Amino acid sequence: MRPELLITQDGSPTLVHPHFQEAYSSRYGAWTQANALYLRLTRTHEHPSPRILEVGFGLGMNFRAALDSCLRRGVPLDYLGYEAFPVEAEVLGWVEAPLTGGAARVWAEVRAAWAAGPRPLVLEGGWGRLEVRFEDVTQAAFPREWASAIYLDPFSPAVNPEPWGLPVLRSLYAAATPGAYLATYSVAGRLRRALAAVGFEVEKVPGVGKKAWTRAWRPL
Ligand SMILES: C[S@@+](CC[C@H](N)C(=O)[O-])C[C@H]1O[C@@H](n2cnc3c(N)ncnc32)[C@H](O)[C@@H]1O
Repeated sequence: MRPELLITQDGSPTLVHPHFQEAYSSRYGAWTQANALYLRLTRTHEHPSPRILEVGFGLGMNFRAALDSCLRRGVPLDYLGYEAFPVEAEVLGWVEAPLTGGAARVWAEVRAAWAAGPRPLVLEGGWGRLEVRFEDVTQAAFPREWASAIYLDPFSPAVNPEPWGLPVLRSLYAAATPGAYLATYSVAGRLRRALAAVGFEVEKVPGVGKKAWTRAWRPL
């Protein structure tokens, strides 16, 4: 079964996963969510050299928002994405984002590398570095005290509970540098308590098009 294309409310596309039956990004706006939730809430948009660890690279929407921002600001991006169930390269091509010239060229390289293999995907250039590890995060060894931002973006805890579990959250805490922010669209009480239990400071913040999002940070 192939994913179904969905045009979100800001006009940007996403997909609905055939097994999980959830959209890869917010139905209120895939591009809006990538920018407002993941890029800005983690303050990546003002970081001088962001290092982002993402749980669920998916369609690379959040990567593209970070790339576009970094290229506009002239700062290097280091992005480490984890993805257990990668989509086919052709399907990745269905999901466009409004990128400026340099970012569009890098994304074309990502798509070519995705189609060609080998895996993990590693791409480097004057813009920075992208590595996508095609691994299940419940089994992954994250780098320690590495990330300036963590994008926690699996499917929802209701249908995909494993990546939200305490063992993964503990490893994410260890992967964060002191002061690093974590952002996620879920505001489940159990998740917020689990984030606090592993050491993060946690807050619920107003979301765009939905009631709230969660932001957490590793204390200094
Ligand atoms: C909501 S989508 C992510 C959208 C993505 N961040 C983007 O910007 O396009 C969730 C993604 O998490 C991936 N995923 C789910 N469980 C996972 C796991 N245990 N380890 C790694 N990736 C996982 C799914 O395959 C899917 O691609």
